[in-house]
Amino acid sequence: MAKRYFIKTFGCQMNVNDSEKMAGLLEGMGYEKAETPEEADVIIVNTCSVRAKPDNKAYSFIGNLKRIKKRKPDTVVAVAGCVPQKEREQILRFSHVDLVFGTFNFMKLPSLLERVKEEGKVVEVLNSKIPEEDRVPLIDSSLENPYVAYVTVQRGCNRFCTYCIVPFTRGRERSVKPELVVEEVKRLAERGVKEVHLLGQNVDFYRYGDTGLAQLLHMVSEVPGIERVRFTTSHPAGFSEEIARAIREIPKVCPYVHLPPQSGSNRILERMNRGYTREEYIEKVKMLKELVPEVALSGDFIVGFPGETEKDFEETLSLVEECVFDQGFVFEYSPRPFTKAATFPDDVPKEVKNRRLTELQELIKRQALEKNRERVGKVEEVLIEGFSPKGTELYGRTPDNKPVAVAGGEELIGKTVKVEIIEASPFFLKGKPIEGTSNGN
Ligand code: SAH
Ligand code: SF4
Ligand code: F3S
Repeated sequence: MAKRYFIKTFGCQMNVNDSEKMAGLLEGMGYEKAETPEEADVIIVNTCSVRAKPDNKAYSFIGNLKRIKKRKPDTVVAVAGCVPQKEREQILRFSHVDLVFGTFNFMKLPSLLERVKEEGKVVEVLNSKIPEEDRVPLIDSSLENPYVAYVTVQRGCNRFCTYCIVPFTRGRERSVKPELVVEEVKRLAERGVKEVHLLGQNVDFYRYGDTGLAQLLHMVSEVPGIERVRFTTSHPAGFSEEIARAIREIPKVCPYVHLPPQSGSNRILERMNRGYTREEYIEKVKMLKELVPEVALSGDFIVGFPGETEKDFEETLSLVEECVFDQGFVFEYSPRPFTKAATFPDDVPKEVKNRRLTELQELIKRQALEKNRERVGKVEEVLIEGFSPKGTELYGRTPDNKPVAVAGGEELIGKTVKVEIIEASPFFLKGKPIEGTSNGN
């Protein structure tokens, strides 16, 4: 029987993509995917350390694997991703972990597994000073969804926002050669992928020689078979009119921008070292909405950053009022190792962080619902990705990234279908296909 693998992924899309690549490598070695960790011969935990919560979750998941290892001592337990980049010692305290590696060498998984067989415990966490030839080659991902795929176009981050651990876990910013990106997208299209998401921590700053993000969007959109192109995450200091024009002018580029403001207070933005003001943020959103009126906007927010007063928080609320969001992810500040903000007193009480979080979430929810209600009765193009988790309806997204539950059968999966919207909730739409209008791709 073929050996089996199980990968548990925490964290951002970058980690999801790294996991898909590791799965691709394992499948290339003859492994098959296991449904549960109990059934697997190799278990990989791909970890995230951006906030205290995912960090703790990863540790408790790793802790729970002990009983599997006890029952099946031949199982290889591996810990990968961002947590090993910051603290390999703590992971090594788990005696049942066989392999520890990081974000710079996940592509070496096959040889690392070989070494575990020969040497027993293996720890190989590299720092960011890796030579060019060790950078990530083109690896065919094992796709979670056969129609929608991630393509990492930029790794690392140079911005050092004072709260953020990412520059320490992912190293300096580096962009992937455009030819390599296009080659990967071509290979995905040949496998039936219709939608690609170009990923980078600050994807607007993508640059390789003369090629910036706008040019890359043009290049990727020309790949036959690709119907939709998305990119994430944008940074308010890097997002430019040129990029907004690319969204406007290239039909395949979806009108959706994830542009995290983090805060609406200039005082806090400065303490966060974000590199833009509230006014500049609002101006960029105005420019974007003028050029691309149908655009959907989403963002990340941190509440309770050290020193955040009620007045600062009100400025965040007023920025949200002014910009109008379709989706928002609000996080309570938690201090992270190595970061500058970890030296600031974490002085906003937990209850206050919690109240601000709820208040901001409620505001975004109201805005999103109002925008979604305007969609009822309209016809949208929905790329059907599969069945909803309950399995009773189909699930897909509009070009502006709204999830839609669609009544219909299996034959629509992987197709772009015209759907009439019949119901709206804040972050979800419901629709029914209009007879005979599937474009049949
Ligand atoms: N590169 C992206 C996102 C990075 S991490 C960007 O620059 O926006 C994803 C989100 O986690 C961030 O946008 C931020 O809102 C949140 N985050 C990062 N560090 C945090 C911390 N120490 N406490 C709370 N939230 C944090
Ligand atoms: Fe972190 Fe800031 Fe870089 Fe985003 S831009 S990854 S928040 S340091
Ligand atoms: Fe987490 Fe690492 Fe992504 S810390 S958010 S998995 S870059």
